[in-house]
Amino acid sequence: LMSWKLKEHPKLPKGKIVAVVVLDGWGEAPPGPYNCISAAHTPNMDSLKQRAPNRWRLLKAHGTAVGLPTDDDVGNSEVGHNALGAGRIFAQGAKLVDIALVSGKIYEGKGFKYIQQCFDTGTLHLIGLLSDGGVHSRLDQLLIFLKGASERGAKRIRVHILTDGRDVLDGTSIGFVQTLENELSELREKGVDAKIASGGGRMYVTMDRYENDWSVVKRGWDAHVLGEAPYKFTSALEAVKKMREDTNTDDQHLPPFVVVDEEGKSVGPIMDGDAVVTFNFRADRMIMIAKALEYDDFDKFERIRFPKIHYAGMLQYDGELKLPKHYLVSPPEIDRTSGEYLVHNGIRTFACSETVKFGHVTFFWNGNRSGYFNSEMEEYEEIPSDIGITFNVQPKMKAIEIAKKARDAILSRKFDQVRINLPNGDMVGHTGDIEATIVGCEAVDDAVKIVLDAIEEVAGIYVVTADHGNAEEMVKRSKKGEPLLDKNGNVQIQTSHTLQPVPITIGGSGLAPGVKFHGNLPTAGLANVASTLMNLHGFEAPSDYEPTLIEVVEE
Ligand code: 3PG
Ligand code: CO
Repeated sequence: LMSWKLKEHPKLPKGKIVAVVVLDGWGEAPPGPYNCISAAHTPNMDSLKQRAPNRWRLLKAHGTAVGLPTDDDVGNSEVGHNALGAGRIFAQGAKLVDIALVSGKIYEGKGFKYIQQCFDTGTLHLIGLLSDGGVHSRLDQLLIFLKGASERGAKRIRVHILTDGRDVLDGTSIGFVQTLENELSELREKGVDAKIASGGGRMYVTMDRYENDWSVVKRGWDAHVLGEAPYKFTSALEAVKKMREDTNTDDQHLPPFVVVDEEGKSVGPIMDGDAVVTFNFRADRMIMIAKALEYDDFDKFERIRFPKIHYAGMLQYDGELKLPKHYLVSPPEIDRTSGEYLVHNGIRTFACSETVKFGHVTFFWNGNRSGYFNSEMEEYEEIPSDIGITFNVQPKMKAIEIAKKARDAILSRKFDQVRINLPNGDMVGHTGDIEATIVGCEAVDDAVKIVLDAIEEVAGIYVVTADHGNAEEMVKRSKKGEPLLDKNGNVQIQTSHTLQPVPITIGGSGLAPGVKFHGNLPTAGLANVASTLMNLHGFEAPSDYEPTLIEVVEE
């Protein structure tokens, strides 16, 4: 029988307040004009690096180190925070879907059987992010699934596409739509009535997260389900091309559109008796649309029509809410996370970020589980994000407010662990605005100082790390490492995450003097952090956790 009780650490004391600061999208890369972190004035982060060389190191934050299919996969916040919180590497959604598609098991499960019941008389709808970014979804998986579903009886298929430009270069949506159109036309040659029916930019249509802005999901609902949108086109390719030009928006922010027939009627609203699959494997940005599609009781916006459908997620997105009930691939079973252990061992936790990253240090940290393990031991505080803006216009975001909440939580001495996520490197980095990203990184540095000062006041310990790279590399490079130019001779701005490692540093006057990073884990990654934190709270980690980063040398 498993026990939640952790062994006492032989050398490290209990009772220290530990601040855990996750800098979102803050990787390490050589300095240069496209490295917003090196270009920013960050005296605090710089001094953390310089003053304690054996308490500063790099960690892997991408690819197989965080459970992604290959080392060509950039890191992301879901897998990054999962690894940080769970202390082990789990094969993640991207990989589990690959495996299920290759083996064909995806078509044998209960989820597929459930949607298949609609194939004779209804339409199969697929809703999701259209790119090869590999963060939320992958185009190649969609194409394989389209083929597989049609071979297993789907006769009428409608795809509802969300254009990316955030996990991939802006402008690439045109190519992805073309690739999808080619596949759909092949299906049509085989007698399947297959079309793109609606879409829009991922940041403006459907893919909101953490209940930041329900109007985003409503726009998607209107387009995908009701077949209504301000923009109507007879083809999706035309839609994306025209809207980019006419509305001067990037792929991420395209307005909603529907594809219409010659009479101007939407080609694919979602009707009673249809099957619907949300094909993203990543959870955060599918949960809201999943609630709208699944819940009988729903008051977030007026649905107008609530069709009786068979709905399945590519994965189950929330294990606690069991949402959605039906899914094609079982999600990773991220059990026994450090958060759950710590509440069982008397550690009181405070976690905070602003809305757009709130679930990162709670839901993702806890293994895609919503809510508290024990509400008496934990307090999670969300600072409302500004809505309806792109963060390059407010690059400081709520970094200082988040840090001040952490400061207050530390100084209250009511908590043993105070955990925050500072969003700027990532959220501003995703806009591709270099000047603004630099400002954002400077705000992060100021915020770090606020937390470190509070930790000094209580003689505590700090751990500053990051979940993946973004702001340190804002340009697309050739294999040789040179910035790539587009056809107009401008550098190609990279809005996405990176393959870079991230820093981790520990310190504070509460840290036992002999603690340092030991030298024998050169390839350690984010999953090694949970054991380290348990040690800093005075415990040994469970034996199946990835090993700790620290050792205690006698002075
Ligand atoms: C997003 O969802 O905003 C991006 O695709 C990934 O960013 P995150 O992994 O940093 O949240
Ligand atoms: Co990001």
